[in-house]
Amino acid sequence: MKTPMKSLVLVLGLSSAASAWCEPSSNVVWNAETRNLLKNASPQHGKELASACNGCHGKDGTAELDFNFPSIAGQNAAFTYKQMLDYKDNTRGHGIMQSFANTLTDRDIADLSVWYQTQALPVVKTEDTRGEEFEVTGRARKLATRGDGARLLPPCAACHGQRGEGAVVDVPALAGQNPSYFTNTMYEFKSGRRGNDLYSRMRIIAQSLSDDEINELANYYGSIGTPEED
Ligand code: HEC
Ligand code: HEC
Repeated sequence: MKTPMKSLVLVLGLSSAASAWCEPSSNVVWNAETRNLLKNASPQHGKELASACNGCHGKDGTAELDFNFPSIAGQNAAFTYKQMLDYKDNTRGHGIMQSFANTLTDRDIADLSVWYQTQALPVVKTEDTRGEEFEVTGRARKLATRGDGARLLPPCAACHGQRGEGAVVDVPALAGQNPSYFTNTMYEFKSGRRGNDLYSRMRIIAQSLSDDEINELANYYGSIGTPEED
């Protein structure tokens, strides 16, 4: 991990005001209008707009692992759409992403979201340094697939899918996600700094996990993207 750049990104990320607990988690409404916007979106136009995003999110949406930028390739379009609107009205506070979202209409955002969804989930390489960092513990695998009854923790897979592929409406894919982003956003759910999850679903879960468990889950999900082809 290249620490200086990572801390710079963290500092930039923290520069905007934290959302308060009393505000609504999100103002996105899953009504016919939102569904139609996504249904009639133009991935071709989304691809053109995505040239503004590649610098941080990587070509086609697979981010470099050195920084805490999320991969958005293969992501559930409804989830991406919701996040962008949450950045726009600051229900998810992040200065840089808010300024990008503000340059886009809701239709542009739908086009981008659908284009990214058509890309494959991040490819996981097995034979580079990344493979060594991704030590997957039995504890992480158990939390992901079976949960922990003693803490009333549901398995992550119950919502995020057996292979971390995401699910209906707003549940994101986690497979192949950049572990430094994964860890960062889970810590933010845990502290309440990120509070745009409807019904506090992720805040409640993150609060019952230790920091070590979060790091191990980040490695687990980071290791299960699309396997690299020979
Ligand atoms: C200067 C770097 C930068 C650029 C350029 C950028 N982003 Fe981001 N983006 C970030 C960072 C950093 C985050 C994580 C912010 C956070 O923790 O909330 C992020 C988060 C996101 C998320 C949330 C992903 C998730 O998994 O929750 C989406 C969606 C997103 N960006 C889409 C875009 C799109 C679309 C564009 C182009 C219009 C774009 N970004 C341009 C840095 C950037
Ligand atoms: C009850 C359903 C549910 C369960 C169980 C669940 N999640 Fe989530 N998770 C969600 C939803 C919904 C979101 C999207 C929140 C939002 O709109 O920002 C989310 C978001 C996330 C994100 C942020 C993704 C991104 O790209 O920004 C991470 C990381 C995450 N979950 C990890 C986990 C882990 C690890 C577990 C298991 C310990 C877990 N989740 C269990 C529903 C769930």
